[in-house]
Amino acid sequence: MAPALASLLAFLLALCLGHPVSAQTLQSGNQFLTPQLQAMQQDADANPISLWVEKGQALWGSSCQSCHSAPQTLRAAAAQHPRLKTSGYTHRLVNLEDQINACRQRAGQAPKGVEDDDTLSLSALLHSVAKGQKIDAQPPADAAAQQRWQEELSKGAQLYATRLGRLNLACVHCHDGKVGAQLRAEVVSPGHPSGFPIYRLNWQNMGSIDRRLRACYSGVQATLPAPGSASLRQLELYLKVRANGMPLDGPSIRR
Ligand code: HEC
Ligand code: HEC
Repeated sequence: MAPALASLLAFLLALCLGHPVSAQTLQSGNQFLTPQLQAMQQDADANPISLWVEKGQALWGSSCQSCHSAPQTLRAAAAQHPRLKTSGYTHRLVNLEDQINACRQRAGQAPKGVEDDDTLSLSALLHSVAKGQKIDAQPPADAAAQQRWQEELSKGAQLYATRLGRLNLACVHCHDGKVGAQLRAEVVSPGHPSGFPIYRLNWQNMGSIDRRLRACYSGVQATLPAPGSASLRQLELYLKVRANGMPLDGPSIRR
């Protein structure tokens, strides 16, 4: 093949790899794992996630069972959060880890952060029983709450398109514009929220979507939002709405 033609083909191939894939294709991050990580994910003995789910089951018995008979009764929860919760006159987006913490408090246990091991174990358990449930982020029924939910959603959409950090890139530039492209040691996925929580080898730990989003802020050398901050919940809501209808397939392994 003529060298000019070969380089043109290589260029076109690179373009295709980096071609925007519409969110409609709804490809999970699990489809971007290396074969080694896929094998680890499928092997219950090698997969560290099993231990987290087991710990969640033990905690369930001691902390949750008195009010919720079995985790399966909350199968829809992972697919429907973040939700808009009302307390007094204020509305606030609450994700699954926030709700777990609110319930821990209700049960008289010390509140812990969204990245606490117990919170993540329970989140892993609730996501594991929700596998296959379709993401279903919907506005609340109440009209005033509905307006507030729309506002939170549009703030999330705006943040998704806002350039950040020293790299001056927005979420949309990578997760719509560079899907399939290699970025350092990673392949960029559409950034769907279906696979959480994730056990990231890089962290040697389980992490929530909150932590993953902060890692993306760090990747573009932007100031990190505090864990649990409103902007992270708005982004999570936007990501969930963008992925509505996609089956949950977490918890999962990541590099
Ligand atoms: C410079 C490119 C870049 C930018 C900008 C970026 N990310 Fe990421 N993001 C990555 C990479 C690389 C990964 C890890 C590989 C993957 O799943 O895409 C990742 C992972 C994710 C994941 C996890 C996907 C999974 O299945 O594990 C989500 C969700 C995500 N990003 C959302 C966001 C959001 C929201 C923003 C904007 C605040 C953002 N990202 C900004 C590069 C970027
Ligand atoms: C003292 C009773 C009580 C205990 C104990 C309790 N919860 Fe709850 N939980 C509730 C009530 C009441 C609601 C519904 C009202 C609300 O959303 O706060 C709820 C709602 C939830 C939801 C949202 C359900 C949905 O419809 O989407 C989740 C998830 C949840 N709890 C998880 C947990 C977990 C995990 C534990 C154990 C750490 C726990 N709860 C312990 C009373 C409790």
